Amino acid sequence: MKPVLLLAALASFGVTAYAFDPASSWSEHCAKCHGKDGRGETKTGKKLGIKDYTDAKLQAEFTDKEAVEAIKEGVADNKGKIHMKPIAGLSDEEIKGLVTYFRSLKK
Ligand code: HEC
Repeated sequence: MKPVLLLAALASFGVTAYAFDPASSWSEHCAKCHGKDGRGETKTGKKLGIKDYTDAKLQAEFTDKEAVEAIKEGVADNKGKIHMKPIAGLSDEEIKGLVTYFRSLKK
């Protein structure tokens, strides 16, 4: 292979390897609680009493900034009981993508 072709092949591989796919990140990090569709109808979701986040009214109750904070810092009630643990290992870009994805679950 000519060096220039090799470089092109490496570059395109790099792009695929780093492309962030919010749907699969959602499945990996969020769906076990929130459900694939965001309704929270999973075993863990039911145990934690997670609400149906496809509800537009519920989605209107928090800003994108608060959603980012929820993912980064977790959600606790005013007694300090943890509802949602911070999700580790996500970059700011990924978190932004997940918030957009979370919003897209709204019906
Ligand atoms: C361990 C279970 C669990 C996982 C995993 C989880 N969540 Fe949550 N999430 C919750 C619970 C419980 C609430 C409701 C908190 C409350 O209002 O009491 C919540 C609430 C939220 C909210 C609303 C925050 C607010 O301010 O009301 C957002 C946004 C959110 N989750 C996004 C995500 C995203 C994105 C992921 C994946 C990166 C994720 N969650 C993973 C349990 C989880």
